[in-house]
Amino acid sequence: MTEIIHGLDGIVVTETRLSRVDGEAGKLTIGGFPLEELAPRACHEEVLFLLWNDRLPSQAELHGLRAELSARRAVPELTRQVVRAAAGQGAHPMDALRMGAATLALRDRDPRGQSRAANVDRALDLVAAFPTLVAIYWRGLNGDTEIEPDPDLGHAANYLYMLTGEAPDPRAVRGLETYLNTVVDHGLNASTFAARVIVSTRSDMGSAICGAIGALKGPLHGGAPGPALDMVFEIQRESLRSGGDIAEVARGWADRTIAAGERVMGFGHRVYRVRDPRAEVLGAAAADLFEGRDDRALYEDARIVEREILAALERAKPGRRLQTNVEFYTALLLHGIGLGGELFSPTFAVGRVGGWTAHVLEQIDEDRLIRPRAAYSGVFDRRWVDLGDRGEIAG
Ligand SMILES: CC(C)(COP(=O)(O)OP(=O)(O)OC[C@H]1O[C@@H](n2cnc3c(N)ncnc32)[C@H](O)[C@@H]1OP(=O)(O)O)[C@@H](O)C(=O)NCCC(=O)NCCS
Repeated sequence: MTEIIHGLDGIVVTETRLSRVDGEAGKLTIGGFPLEELAPRACHEEVLFLLWNDRLPSQAELHGLRAELSARRAVPELTRQVVRAAAGQGAHPMDALRMGAATLALRDRDPRGQSRAANVDRALDLVAAFPTLVAIYWRGLNGDTEIEPDPDLGHAANYLYMLTGEAPDPRAVRGLETYLNTVVDHGLNASTFAARVIVSTRSDMGSAICGAIGALKGPLHGGAPGPALDMVFEIQRESLRSGGDIAEVARGWADRTIAAGERVMGFGHRVYRVRDPRAEVLGAAAADLFEGRDDRALYEDARIVEREILAALERAKPGRRLQTNVEFYTALLLHGIGLGGELFSPTFAVGRVGGWTAHVLEQIDEDRLIRPRAAYSGVFDRRWVDLGDRGEIAG
């Protein structure tokens, strides 16, 4: 009897030096660094260099990478038109991103080139263009004209600038750098695996990245930090309406929701059995961001809601070790930075594309077709029946 491992759970199919997820200990290592050491300190370009080169850049190298990305941030006119048209039709932001990313192959300097240099060139093109694609979509959706990238701003700052047209607040930029660094890579997650499967056929970087966007779109992957924040807002509203203490309202809400068999968004994880280390890093970034702000109460309330939900989950599912995951603080942090809920998933992609491209480069080096098997569950030895002899329902 063939043992079937549904969802490939626990199956090790390749090696990577890019990141390691330790679900029991709650540790995430990126390019050799503990997440909490790297994410709050590095600018995103440093993390991109680290993933592509397995070391941090020197000052000159960082300067060079920033210049490379800056030169590729503006996208071809056709790409702009495709994304703008998608926004005009109210397309899903991840669909618009996928359509735009697909057209970037048009500016490939060496369309059939197979060398590492040609693939690094494609990685730079894609990573540089992602924030621009999302910004074109966002401004199109809101009927606003596009903002040209600013050559003096870095990757994260440019993203905020192109979305809003305003000089970005340094604290928001720092929060976004930390977010992008935190989500840049996470072992062999579904979208990264999809990218590696595609390029393992000796297909190309662009096809792999388009496939990865499609995988990230799903609600079980990059789909839904929005609902986690909606839940905090809902509890706030209920507390305001009833005049009840927020902790008590949160407790009642959590008990009711779990008893009704619903999943509480932002909690639980397939791999982590302790608190998701990304929640820790993003929680600290949110604390810094909201410090001294008028809307600090949202952060405080979210902490109370988190505490009450964890207690309710432990009461309802004792021993399950359900903990806060990355989505809970992603929502709070991105909201604090000023991004609307529709931008949460594409912003995840803006961060993850660096990891995807690094995995594609690794897979190209490995050059091994990924080809698992399925156990056949159909029947055998059917006999052919001519069309005229099949009756109403063909067997
Ligand atoms: C992430 C997630 C899909 C992982 O699921 P999983 O590891 O397959 O967990 P399981 O489905 O085995 O669930 C184990 C038990 O905990 C419960 N559970 C898991 N997450 C829960 C949550 N967020 N809220 C309430 N109950 C939860 C399940 O109902 C199940 O209970 P049961 O055995 O009594 O039926 C799941 O925790 C979830 O749906 N979380 C909410 C959505 C979310 O935050 N997604 C972003 C993930 S980064």
